[in-house]
Amino acid sequence: MSETQAASPVKKVNPNAPTEETVLSVHHYTDRLFKFRITRPGSFRFRSGEFVMIGLPKEDGKPLLRAYSIASPSWDEELEFFSIKVPDGPLTSRLCDIKPGDKVLLGKKPTGTLVHDALTPAKRLYMFSTGTGIAPFASLMRDPETYQKFDEVILTHTCREISELAYGEELTAALPDDPLCDEYAHKFRLYNSVTREDFPRMGRITDLIESGKLFEDLGVPPLNAETDRVMICGSMQMIQDTKALCEKAGLVEGSNAAPADFVIEKAFAG
Ligand code: A2P
Repeated sequence: MSETQAASPVKKVNPNAPTEETVLSVHHYTDRLFKFRITRPGSFRFRSGEFVMIGLPKEDGKPLLRAYSIASPSWDEELEFFSIKVPDGPLTSRLCDIKPGDKVLLGKKPTGTLVHDALTPAKRLYMFSTGTGIAPFASLMRDPETYQKFDEVILTHTCREISELAYGEELTAALPDDPLCDEYAHKFRLYNSVTREDFPRMGRITDLIESGKLFEDLGVPPLNAETDRVMICGSMQMIQDTKALCEKAGLVEGSNAAPADFVIEKAFAG
């Protein structure tokens, strides 16, 4: 090898490196919560309910990436995300300042367990969420497959304060005009509650399940493995507590490899 060749090595291109996407819109719901939409590369495929790495280029070297549930359905030409702002969070403290036209990094490998493939068929689907844990369900509630697979779809969303319920309420209000799910809107119900402010419906989802109030309010029988399937997304403790109630009701945890009655996934933030 000549000296000239050794001095100019071919730069290796990492095929798994994130792509740079453009921010299309940003909407702030509260000073802690916002949604944003970015361009979707033609080659980017995912299943509704999955998450992917999202980030910002770091000025001084390595990019900063975190897992985010994709909130838009798999058929959408754009990608939507719903995020919390953590004041000291290395990513979200900067991400909350993005504006249309800015660049965001998008990972190439979406993955996750809150997908239809991980549940066996049944009559009713419950999607239990707290806080930003609603994001994967924002995707699934806008996917026609959800309604082709289940007769009834119930999304529960519990937040500390009333203003944090806005995203779920907005999605629910838009469903009758959704280009692909409008004909299924009658199958969908939103059941929200608040824990730290006066509201007509109060309490943690775990307490509402345990007391039976959830089922009473909805006019359905208590959780059972014959008719019900469950997806859970929230904080680690919320997941553990809700999972315990599912298991108590006889539901079995499923996965992509072994579909069953319920699946769980942590809501990410940072
Ligand atoms: P609470 O106000 O009683 O803590 P967070 O922002 O901490 O993730 O909380 C979002 C919502 O989830 C809040 O309404 C909170 O209720 C509720 N929550 C927190 N921990 C649990 C849990 N272990 N089980 C059920 N709900 C929970």
